[in-house]
Amino acid sequence: MYLGIDLGTSAVKTVLVDDAQRVIASESRPLATVSPQPGHYEQDPTQWIDAAFATLDALKASHGNELAAVEGIGLSGQMHGATLLDASSKPLRPCILWNDGRSAAECRILELRWPALRATTGNKAMPGFTAPKLLWVAAHEPDVFAATKLVLLPKAYLRLVLSGEAVEDVSDASGSLWLDVARRDWSDAALAATGLSRDHMPRLVEGCAPAARLRGELAQRWGMAKPPIIAGGAGDNPAGAVGIGAIRPGTAFVSLGTSGALLAPTDRIAANPDRVVHTFCHAIPGMWIQAGAILSAASCLAWAARLFGATEAELLAPLGSRPQAPSPVSFLPYLAGERTPHDDPAVRGMLDGLSHGTDRAAIVQSVLEGVAFALADCRDVLADAGIAIAEADVIGGGSRSPFWLSVLASVLNVPVHRFAGGETGAAFGAARLGRLAVTGEAIPAICTRPQRVETFEPDAKLVDAYAERLPAWRELYRPRH
Ligand code: XUL
Repeated sequence: MYLGIDLGTSAVKTVLVDDAQRVIASESRPLATVSPQPGHYEQDPTQWIDAAFATLDALKASHGNELAAVEGIGLSGQMHGATLLDASSKPLRPCILWNDGRSAAECRILELRWPALRATTGNKAMPGFTAPKLLWVAAHEPDVFAATKLVLLPKAYLRLVLSGEAVEDVSDASGSLWLDVARRDWSDAALAATGLSRDHMPRLVEGCAPAARLRGELAQRWGMAKPPIIAGGAGDNPAGAVGIGAIRPGTAFVSLGTSGALLAPTDRIAANPDRVVHTFCHAIPGMWIQAGAILSAASCLAWAARLFGATEAELLAPLGSRPQAPSPVSFLPYLAGERTPHDDPAVRGMLDGLSHGTDRAAIVQSVLEGVAFALADCRDVLADAGIAIAEADVIGGGSRSPFWLSVLASVLNVPVHRFAGGETGAAFGAARLGRLAVTGEAIPAICTRPQRVETFEPDAKLVDAYAERLPAWRELYRPRH
């Protein structure tokens, strides 16, 4: 029996997976994000712990025998967040999250200070990443910076509380800008450019390697006879890849979660930082992931639902199962700024083409199309790095909408596939990593591809209509930096 715990942005989700890889139970607890200023996003790390513990307590109540049999735990998490700990491992301030845009000036300083940044990390310095956040803290909260003894990504903080050990996996560490992604090790030069050293960093392991063990008293609390092994785990996107068996080249996929991404596993680094392609080590040794990442995807639909005072299902129902033609309205999904391809934390969203005749359905359709166009931008920068996408699986909450997947297939002009559900999340991928850390089984034998339940083919008429619309949609973007 294995556990996968995904410390996401909107919730902590924990799944219990049996030896036949069936999800037999899952629990989730919501998380709150605060925005102390426009473009600043933070979370209190103690709520991660409370939420994770609540999911495990609930599983103990509903599936006590199965939980007692857990041998391995995998962690997955929102990437890039800076959790700053003092000498007694207490958080010094709220975690600054992956979508926080405050450190644009520090990104420029970092690239000037360390010109090898892009070549070594495979990435461009962007405010979402961890290192510039530390420069921001050094400049604006010098006492906090001086007291910082350890810098952890969100799920590594959870692991520290669960096990007492500071360990990070190389996939999540790739989003820090402190990792040499080719060597899969911390870069001393990168750390020095931020006024830090290896002493401030957790130990590194591969995602499927054992990292720590659950503390004895917690194992007792959840009725486990022997403290389970905790695997390295992965950032949420690499964990999602493991969950759907995207572990070799040619298995590109789209994530339509709070954020969005088009991700391509590769067996070599194919970086393109100048065009804002992200380079991450995969959770699988010897593999990497090249990705275009957008900051708002399913969160755009959630925004529309708040605006219209309706549920997402109520917004989607009138659209039917597939579009007849592009919406007359165009939407830029840059509600929290954008990474790929603009790297512009200051840009904001836009609705264009409104008229007296515009109804709710036209706006909702434009929101879904705007996210799909942003993913077309991701496709193009990946193509520029030599990665062509012939088809794509889709994971994340947005994949439940057939309408959205039809739009995506025609905008990207590739077939897109959907899975049955529960087994596609990052938590499931994390559970697989937990299992691999215990058993050392062959990775392809465990990281199989779940059954696809539906394929959405591009519709020739819509492919042409969207291809015609895309340049005009791109024209709407005006740089703010
Ligand atoms: C990836 C990214 C997001 C977060 C939150 O670069 O910033 O996907 O991991 O989900």
